[in-house]
Amino acid sequence: MQLTFAHRTDSVHRSFIREILKVTARPEIISFAGGLPNPALFPVEAMRQAAGRILGEDGADVLQYSTTEGHAPLREYIAARYKKRFGMIVSPDDILITTGSQQGLDLLGKVFLDRGTPMVVERPGYLGAIQAFSVFEPRFMAVELEKDGPNLDELERALDQGARLFYAVTNFQNPSGLTYSLEKRKAVAALMEGRDAVLVEDDPYGELRFAGEFHPPIRALGGDNCILLGTFSKVTVPGFRLGWIVAPKEILSKAVVMKQGADLHTSTLAQRLLYEYLETNDLDAHVERIRQRYGAQCRVMTAACERHFPEGVSFTRPEGGMFLWAALPEGYSAMDLLDKAIARNVAFVPGRPFYVEPGMGENTLRLNFSNSDEARIEEGIGRLGQAMKELLGR
Ligand SMILES: Cc1ncc(COP(=O)(O)O)c(C=O)c1O
Repeated sequence: MQLTFAHRTDSVHRSFIREILKVTARPEIISFAGGLPNPALFPVEAMRQAAGRILGEDGADVLQYSTTEGHAPLREYIAARYKKRFGMIVSPDDILITTGSQQGLDLLGKVFLDRGTPMVVERPGYLGAIQAFSVFEPRFMAVELEKDGPNLDELERALDQGARLFYAVTNFQNPSGLTYSLEKRKAVAALMEGRDAVLVEDDPYGELRFAGEFHPPIRALGGDNCILLGTFSKVTVPGFRLGWIVAPKEILSKAVVMKQGADLHTSTLAQRLLYEYLETNDLDAHVERIRQRYGAQCRVMTAACERHFPEGVSFTRPEGGMFLWAALPEGYSAMDLLDKAIARNVAFVPGRPFYVEPGMGENTLRLNFSNSDEARIEEGIGRLGQAMKELLGR
C-alpha cells in the first residue's frame, strides 16, 4: 500500500510508555511503570447504585445527546468546589466539561498553536501533553523545573522571546512529583500578566496531597490568560473520561467550537452518573481515603529507596500525587538500567521521553507508587536497587 500521511503524524511518536506497558503486563513483573490510580479505591458499589437510579428514573434523558458545554449541575459542582477549597470564584459559565483533561490539552492546542508557534514546557514535562501539543507542530522551548517550580529567569526569557503558551503541572507533577511553591505561583502569575500568551495550568493531582500545605491554583492569583484544567480521573475514576477547562468566555467559546468538531460533547451518561455519585456520596471523605493510601505507599517507597539505592542515586520526596522521580549519576543510562531491571522482573519508565530537547534526561527515571501495594513496593525497590548496583558496578 502506498499512502501519503499528513505531516503531523511524523512528529508524534507512539507513546513510549504504552509500549513499555506491553512488556510489563506480565504478572510476574512488579511494575512501577504505569500511571494508574489504585483500583481498590474505586467506589464500584456506589457507582452501581447511582447508575441504577439515573437509568431507572431518567433513562431516556441520560442516554440522549447533550450540550457541548457539559451538564450544568456538574459545572456548578466544580465551581462550588473551587470556592470551598480556595475561596476561588469561578462562574459555571467559565467551565467546559471535556473528555478527560487530556482532551483539554488537545482543544487548547487547537485554539492557540499554529505550526511553529513557540510554546514552553517544563523540563522534564508531562509526556501526554508533549504528545498532544506535538500534533500542532509548535516550536517547543523548555524551562528547568526546580524543587519549588520553574526557573523564573528561563521562563521570563522564553516569554520575552515570544512564547505564546506555557504548559505547567503545578502539583505533584507527572513525572517528577515536584510542586510549585506559593512564591513561584505568584511569580508565574506576575510574569504572565499583560502578555499575548496563556498559562495552561494542568492540575490532576492537586487534591492528592498527603503532606504539607495546599496552595491555590495560579488562576486564583493571576489574570484572565491563566487557564486551569481539572479532572475527576484521580479523585473518583479515570474510566469515565471526565475533565474540565476553566477559562474566560473569550477562550472557552473557541474551545467549545473545537470540541464540537472533535466529539460534539462528553458522554451524557458519564456526566450524569458521576454527578449522581457526587450528590449522594461524600467526595471529601473518599479523597481522604485516597490520600491516606497513597501517602502510606509513598512513604514505603521513599524509605525503600533510601535503604536500597546505591550512593549517588538521588530521588524526589513527593508530598502528594502518584510519582517519584530518580536520577542516576551523570553518564549512566536509565535505558540500560531498564534492561537489568526487567531481567529481575521489575519495571519503571526511563525519563528520556519527558524531555523535548535531544540528549537530556538519559539518567532519569519515573516510579509510580499508587498502583502497587506496600509489599510489592518493598520487594520491587529492593530488586531495582540490585539492578542499579550492577549498573554502577558497586
Ligand atoms: C499531568 C497530567 N495531565 C493530564 C492527564 C490526563 O488525565 P485525564 O484522565 O483527565 O485525561 C494526566 C494523566 O495521567 C496527567 O498526568
